[in-house]
Amino acid sequence: MTATKVHLPYFDLLFEQFRKGNPDALQAFGRHVHWGYWDYPAVADGTAADFGAAAEKLCRRVCDAGGVGDGLRILDCGCGFGGTIASLNERFSSVELVGVNIDPRQIERAREQVKPSTGNQIEFVEADACQLPFEDDSFDVVLAVECIFHFPSRQRFFQEARRVLRKGGRLALCDFVPVRALLPLMKFASQFAGASVARTYGNIDGYFTLADYRNLGQTAGFLPGLEEDITVNTLPTYPAMRRFCLDTAQIEMERVTAGQEWLSQLGLSRYMILSFQVP
Ligand SMILES: C[S@@+](CC[C@H](N)C(=O)[O-])C[C@H]1O[C@@H](n2cnc3c(N)ncnc32)[C@H](O)[C@@H]1O
Repeated sequence: MTATKVHLPYFDLLFEQFRKGNPDALQAFGRHVHWGYWDYPAVADGTAADFGAAAEKLCRRVCDAGGVGDGLRILDCGCGFGGTIASLNERFSSVELVGVNIDPRQIERAREQVKPSTGNQIEFVEADACQLPFEDDSFDVVLAVECIFHFPSRQRFFQEARRVLRKGGRLALCDFVPVRALLPLMKFASQFAGASVARTYGNIDGYFTLADYRNLGQTAGFLPGLEEDITVNTLPTYPAMRRFCLDTAQIEMERVTAGQEWLSQLGLSRYMILSFQVP
């Protein structure tokens, strides 16, 4: 297995749990590594299988916001273990699917796990989402499922997405979006909790507001699209994640996750699906 160039402690944990054969880790995070979406949050049952199904649902919501369909060329940036590519491969035909990830270990696992259905093409490429090794106007859809906060620059990523997208193409993503009023408190709290976040979830820029996204979309040459607040539908993620942390003796990660749960429950940090369209 190749060494990673990025600091992603939670992926180190997942690889360790996969090696140990932890069935919950495999069921909850073997395909997708992101929050879940529950149509009816009250019926979430806290099992790893329920979490895995909810993660698939979130992935589909973001893909649909990107206008995915048969015959398209689709780029998934920050593709994790290839879960989004696998889902698209199962749902659509005559598609060309490309997953990009900066972490070679994840690319290796994605290549092992995800094989194209007849008539589809799949490629996994090791690259930085902010320096895409693709030609201008070469994709119909660009996706970024719960990963943009890790990228070195949202500005550079939007410029790259705009460059590789064809006329009428769409960029769709999901992200944790703080309300503007929370920023001073978050910046103050980061003096105490910032190191814990970095030690568990890695380097994250969690300060990008909806107004920032609107400005960025416009500056990068996109038309505005969907702005959907799905915070309530993601809330069952937190007890499930916290239990996984405790089961794997990740006390600091459990505390960081509880902090984000608290912000989400109070409506101070929203989980949003956003889309942008090339004119
Ligand atoms: C929370 S995971 C989401 C993974 C995947 N999108 C999914 O939904 O399962 C964040 C992902 O972003 C990737 N990532 C972080 N920085 C990146 C970068 N600069 N370029 C490409 N991928 C990056 C990580 O390696 C990881 O796979």
